[in-house]
Amino acid sequence: MEPIYLDNAATSRPKPPEVLESVRLALTDWNANPGRSGHKHAVRAGRVVLECREALAGLLGAEDPLSIAFGQNCTDALNLAIRGSAPCEGGHVVSTMLEHNSVLRVLEDLRLRQGLEYTLLAPGPEGVVEPEAFRRALRPNTMLIECTHASNVTGAIQPVGEIGAIAREAGIPFLVDGAQAIGAVPFFLAETGASLYAFPGHKALLGPQGTGGLYIAPSLRLTPQRHGGTGTESESIRQPEAAPERYEAGTLNLPGIAGLTAGVKVAAEDLSSARERELALTEALLDGLRALHGVTIYGPRDASARVGTVAFNMGDISSADLADRLDARDIAVRGGLHCAPMIHRLLGTLERGAVRASIGRYTTMEEIARFLIVLREIQSEL
Ligand SMILES: Cc1ncc(COP(=O)(O)O)c(C=O)c1O
Repeated sequence: MEPIYLDNAATSRPKPPEVLESVRLALTDWNANPGRSGHKHAVRAGRVVLECREALAGLLGAEDPLSIAFGQNCTDALNLAIRGSAPCEGGHVVSTMLEHNSVLRVLEDLRLRQGLEYTLLAPGPEGVVEPEAFRRALRPNTMLIECTHASNVTGAIQPVGEIGAIAREAGIPFLVDGAQAIGAVPFFLAETGASLYAFPGHKALLGPQGTGGLYIAPSLRLTPQRHGGTGTESESIRQPEAAPERYEAGTLNLPGIAGLTAGVKVAAEDLSSARERELALTEALLDGLRALHGVTIYGPRDASARVGTVAFNMGDISSADLADRLDARDIAVRGGLHCAPMIHRLLGTLERGAVRASIGRYTTMEEIARFLIVLREIQSEL
């Protein structure tokens, strides 16, 4: 039996052959330091990086490819967005209890060390935070509104467009954590109202690990979180003003970025039909889990209100134990906690965790059917 991979919310697998080939070329034919020397190899490497910015800008509907700054992953992008825009002492941020530790730990660190205040809004019963709650939480010193595009635990898609409209009305930058949505859900930035959009390259964008980035609206100027060489304005010991170099000190991850370009192209190619397929698979997974005895499913009832991520628990078995039993049968899911402690607390799963099955672009209906059969087998052994 072929192994089944249902941990795409952590990182996508497999990576398409186009990605592998681009990584290979970046380490051979295209290998040089982008944006540094003036020789033709370096110039070509620079074009490889620009091509990735263009592919991402196209996917997101961003007018200017230079509004995309690369980093190591989504965490890196979130750190730049929050630390770079939150004024800390005397400032306030509105965020949610759905957030990943890549947001929560940054906010908490800023609170402890620099006196930042923050408010975390709770989601309603279907796992969605009410947009008006953001308006009510605003204070005169609110400097940033942040919300995940989709929860990495419940899969619930958040009403970012409505939250973005409230942020715009209030004249406050709006940061969206796109880790679970980009490449999986078709959308343009304009529909989200995001002035900052953080994303990983290695999840639904199908790129290599070690890639990610931040869309920064051209009207925003963040404080860089890393200082160093950019290959520009080298006469100065100050970080350049111009984006994206301002935020990208040090040699870029050319193999990762080249692979990401290929991944973005594959992901963008038929995104709407991929989303339709994901919905059908999610629906089948939800229906199958509901048909099993003693299964608790977290998050929205309706598949269309989620990305292809389903967290659940079965009977009294711990989520880590169930994940191990599935692994022993060559099915990869994630058990335990999912780096989002506040939502686990609200769901009552802080101790036990939850099994998370996450569908990816290459998941098939046969795999979902087999997963459900194996769950039933495990259940009969308990
Ligand atoms: C909602 C959310 N935000 C942020 C991250 C962090 O992403 P990365 O591992 O690329 O830093 C994840 C990772 O799973 C996530 O699910």
